[in-house]
Amino acid sequence: MVKIVVESLYFRYPEASDYALRNISFRIVEGESVAILGENGAGKTTLAKNLNGLLKPTEGSVKIDGVDTRNLSVAKIARKIGFVNHNPEHQFFAEKVEDEVRFGLRNFGFSEEAADKTIQEVLNVFGLEEYRGKNPFQLSGGEKKRLAIASIMAWRPEALIVDEPTIGMDYAQKLNIRRVLRSIVSEGRCVIVITHDVDFAASICERAIILSRGEVIGDGRLRDLLSDDKLVEKASLRKPFLIELEKETGLTGLEEDFDAISSTLVEVFQKCRS
Ligand SMILES: Nc1ncnc2c1ncn2[C@@H]1O[C@H](COP(=O)(O)OP(=O)(O)OP(=O)(O)O)[C@@H](O)[C@H]1O
Ligand SMILES: [Mg+2]
Repeated sequence: MVKIVVESLYFRYPEASDYALRNISFRIVEGESVAILGENGAGKTTLAKNLNGLLKPTEGSVKIDGVDTRNLSVAKIARKIGFVNHNPEHQFFAEKVEDEVRFGLRNFGFSEEAADKTIQEVLNVFGLEEYRGKNPFQLSGGEKKRLAIASIMAWRPEALIVDEPTIGMDYAQKLNIRRVLRSIVSEGRCVIVITHDVDFAASICERAIILSRGEVIGDGRLRDLLSDDKLVEKASLRKPFLIELEKETGLTGLEEDFDAISSTLVEVFQKCRS
């Protein structure tokens, strides 16, 4: 199972005068669920691309199972660490939805029979079956996002990095994506979620890495970090509603079920009124 070790990572874009990432060190091991949080421009996407070899460190290193990403091909890393771009169109090139999913499977040596079965499964999971012959670019925003996740998930990478998975999603699809990501974690694989949606992050991730201006300003248990007023303010975040609600009501385990929140709220209001 995958282990990602980041050591003293500095990254600067070729044309930029300043570093986008500075002195970042951490490790992520199998089975972890990690939220990468931070303000716009904090460096989250840049960090994600360094984790899967799309970008290589300017200084320092990123090692995947002990091997420096500089010595690994992007495809080899992608087999282990899937990355879903925040803009799904950056990922698409096939003319049909089903071929978009098939491409990765072929590349990674799935037989046609196994690929057919997998395509069927992932299109079902993401409610895309009816679009399998359609051009990916002609899907709606939310459908594109679902296809982007489906096509990476299909080859079952050991770790999945998703950049802004909930943007443009309706509520039902957001719950669906949450369910899928949680099932990946429960299988002992890794999920790394980049998001501004702290409630979504809290409902999936045990751990958070908080970035601000290219530096890590917090790394630890998500619940602890997002209970820290100063840290939350510094990273332009807010506290997850779930965590606040649990504190206020004394109820626990709300993150286990989003829907429990609304019924709990109703109960709290009823109690207040009586
Ligand atoms: N291709 C690029 N060339 C030069 N600078 C870039 C490039 N991409 C991003 N940057 C800069 O690097 C910094 C980090 O950007 P990044 O996209 O990683 O932020 P982010 O945390 O993902 O933000 P957001 O929440 O808006 O997605 C920003 O200052 C950004 O302007
Ligand atoms: Mg980003």
